Amino acid sequence: MSLVASDETRFPPITRRLRLGFVGGGRGALIGQVHAMGARLSNRWQAVAGALSSDPEIALASGRDWLLERVYTDYDEMAQREAALADGIEAVVISTPNWTHKNIAEAFLKKGIDVICDKPLTTMVEDALELVRLQRDTGLIVGVTYPYTSHAMVRQARELVLAGELGRVRQIHVEYMQDWATEPDDPNFKGARWRRDPQRMGRASATNDIGTHAFHLAHFVTGLEMVECRAEFHVCGAPKAMEDTAFVQTRYEGGVPGTLWVTQAAPGNYCGLRIRVYGDKAGLEWDQEKPEFLRFNRLNQPETVFVRGHGAGMVTQAERLITLPRGHPEALSDAWANLYTEFAIAIEARRNGKSVPAGLLNYPSVADGARGVKFVDACADSHEAGSVWRDCKLVI
Ligand SMILES: NC(=O)c1ccc[n+]([C@@H]2O[C@H](COP(=O)([O-])OP(=O)(O)OC[C@H]3O[C@@H](n4cnc5c(N)ncnc54)[C@H](O)[C@@H]3O)[C@@H](O)[C@H]2O)c1
Repeated sequence: MSLVASDETRFPPITRRLRLGFVGGGRGALIGQVHAMGARLSNRWQAVAGALSSDPEIALASGRDWLLERVYTDYDEMAQREAALADGIEAVVISTPNWTHKNIAEAFLKKGIDVICDKPLTTMVEDALELVRLQRDTGLIVGVTYPYTSHAMVRQARELVLAGELGRVRQIHVEYMQDWATEPDDPNFKGARWRRDPQRMGRASATNDIGTHAFHLAHFVTGLEMVECRAEFHVCGAPKAMEDTAFVQTRYEGGVPGTLWVTQAAPGNYCGLRIRVYGDKAGLEWDQEKPEFLRFNRLNQPETVFVRGHGAGMVTQAERLITLPRGHPEALSDAWANLYTEFAIAIEARRNGKSVPAGLLNYPSVADGARGVKFVDACADSHEAGSVWRDCKLVI
């Protein structure tokens, strides 16, 4: 067992820090700061510009907080000005509410700037498909920030499944359980308001908010596409206009059955994203609240637990995402940093007209984002039609 990574298992260095801009994420926002932290921790980005809020005063104040060189109060103006500068931003992060993603992404892509967009990619399937087309036409990078699949142990899980260690996959179960919506909304949590507003959120709430993470995780680990789903939406917490809970029966390629369960009203659960995959030879289980461990059980054999660190059964694709030796915990911050590392490598290569070695990177793409939007839409369709089966495979 080794305490350090070998050269083959390290990501290649980039030649300089890339210039990064942000839309959203200023004072009072939930996730923008986390993006900025991931970018800093990756050591491959420098935050230089931003339109950090829809409120001009907060945008200006937040730009000062973040020590940005150029602060804007309008993302359109930011896209135009940055594109015209010789040292303008090389990518933009979009961490605004869901229904704004499409127009903001479009504004930057049309100016030739690569995009890193939060999930869900959009609120409507047609908009997601338009971004897929725009990405294809421009050849720019569009990454979607599903950070959980940048945990080393999720990469380990994926490689075990793809290598056939589980045998034929026979069932897939994912869940994402929280409890913050059990009680009436905390007035300090501004995002709670738009998350339950059908005018802004679209046709689903918790399914959009955390269901998309579970959906992506299942696809990422198994490599299988979900083809059908059958959903029931419920309000299990304090009364609210949209679902805080969804029970989804799922079916993947090859007829593989499964379940996807999300709730924000299960007391005692914080961010309980978990996956269990069972094949005819073995099964695996991963829990994002204990992200350093991956349970792997061969049928009729003693239990194996892979522990995050160098060597001892870790595959290269997972080791690349590891910095600290075993015993010094790595967690979600490191997963965000890994995501920003992969975005930086992809974007620098594109800008230099170089290709990235096959299999080196595995960040969520615009197609992954669009698949998530289709999944949410299919769940809403299914629920509204009386929980009937609905096609949820996106034809791209
Ligand atoms: N990847 C993850 O793990 C994760 C976690 C939480 C939230 N999210 C996603 O991130 C997004 C933001 O969520 P949040 O909870 O941080 O929301 P929030 O309401 O807390 O913050 C949104 C921010 O966007 C700003 N904004 C809105 N419109 C803008 C505009 N036109 N120009 C500039 N800024 C604008 C707001 O002023 C605010 O700063 C959502 O899409 C959400 O689904 C992702």
